[in-house]
Amino acid sequence: MAEFKEAPADAPMAAKLMTWVDNRFPATKLYKEHLSEYYAPKNFNFWYFFGSLALVVLVIQIVTGIFLVMHYKPDAALAFASVEYIMRDVPWGWLIRYMHSTGASAFFVVVYLHMYRGLIYGSYQKPRELVWVFGCAIFLCLMAEAFMGYLLPWGQMSYWGAQVIINLFAAVPFVGEDLSLLIRGDYVVGDATLNRFFSFHVIAVPLVLLGLVVAHIIALHEVGSNNPDGVEIKALKDDKGIPLDGIPFHPYYTVHDILGVSGFLMVFTAIIFFAPELGGYFLEYNNFIPADSLKTPAHIAPVWYFTPYYSMLRATTDTMVNVLCGIVAVAAVLSVLKGALSSKAKAITLVGALVAIFLLKTFDAKFWGVVVMGGAVVILFFLPWLDYSPVKSIRYRPGFVKWLFGVFVVFFFVLGYLGIQPPSDIGTLVAQIGTLFYFGFFLLMPWWSRLGTFKPVPTRVTFEAH
Ligand code: HEM
Repeated sequence: MAEFKEAPADAPMAAKLMTWVDNRFPATKLYKEHLSEYYAPKNFNFWYFFGSLALVVLVIQIVTGIFLVMHYKPDAALAFASVEYIMRDVPWGWLIRYMHSTGASAFFVVVYLHMYRGLIYGSYQKPRELVWVFGCAIFLCLMAEAFMGYLLPWGQMSYWGAQVIINLFAAVPFVGEDLSLLIRGDYVVGDATLNRFFSFHVIAVPLVLLGLVVAHIIALHEVGSNNPDGVEIKALKDDKGIPLDGIPFHPYYTVHDILGVSGFLMVFTAIIFFAPELGGYFLEYNNFIPADSLKTPAHIAPVWYFTPYYSMLRATTDTMVNVLCGIVAVAAVLSVLKGALSSKAKAITLVGALVAIFLLKTFDAKFWGVVVMGGAVVILFFLPWLDYSPVKSIRYRPGFVKWLFGVFVVFFFVLGYLGIQPPSDIGTLVAQIGTLFYFGFFLLMPWWSRLGTFKPVPTRVTFEAH
């Protein structure tokens, strides 16, 4: 137990009270460690707004969620009408609901930009691997949270979207049917599904999400923040042990982040007040029609933030599986012929490739679609171990990497767009190319991340006072 400290007899009441608290709870210690004496690099730019914005959106979602639960009824016979009641009769209910529905999309906008920042500045590289892994777990939870939340208004899209996605699990070999039955709690999406999704959406997933966010920030503060130059500021410290390029998070970045929050709130409120459905992207028009198990909508598409992955699912046709078999075969033959492998490793590569091709051909393309869709998210966890670049930031990587990232982003948008559209031959072909590019980007990273001429990384961060 730490020594009890005494406040001087003539100290102000507030100081005495703080000493009393600090002797029992490390309030001042935590404040110093995480705010006033947490030294963050002084060259943070626009991209560094999104972490604090994600926190702001998290708070908005929790607070508005609490108020929605006061009036919402998790019952298949009442849910739709209870949401209409919130919109029309509950004082300010429409605002709370629009804040929550817009908040869901805002969360994904903010988190996608936050992740992209990590990608371009190599923030997942040593020693921030766990910051990234916790981040990826947060992203998975966020997807589960959004998916289950979307069922709650019990509109046509809620119902049929859930139907389509839960049915995907039925494609898992051997246990699929039982698995989807377990998730649904019934043979069709119904009251049991609504109840369990409600329970997960309001308590189980948010608890995990909150725990992960705390872990994410503790891990970050343990190793310190990266920055747009990818320079480790802890390498150069003054005689008090303070990084030369570090500034206290509070007041510098707390004030700086107010700018980001203000900009964000302008856009956020503009959407809430002037375009809460955002042309059907944030709230789909079909979801204003009550769920009807006898009327399948002509076109079922998930909300925009899921569509890149949905596109990958739809792109995994029988033809795509054949192409994958071809890629596996060519990769195995090339690594045996060209790679410096021992004869044992060559044998293992060939057998591995044969097994992979056998599995690809044995199970249904629909199942591989599910694997591809899940794999697209799971692969992100491995990013720290796929990137062999000797420098972190894109600023000092070879020029072609910028192009590669550019094409990656374009394909991500194209996949997102195609996932909203009804399927077409040309759309499927483009989605297949996009899917191959997406996976190629990550799986071939150990190779391409070492190529080219790297620029020299400075010892100090680049910073111009403004
Ligand atoms: C609820 C969602 C999230 C919240 C509240 C959150 C919060 C934060 C905060 C406050 C920071 C420090 C400020 C900053 O660097 O912007 C941060 C840093 C970071 N986050 Fe997140 N985050 C979330 C999701 C994610 C996800 C999904 C990923 C990646 C998959 C991720 C990866 C990172 C990385 C790598 C850093 C360190 C960046 C650097 O130092 O350059 N975060 N996060």
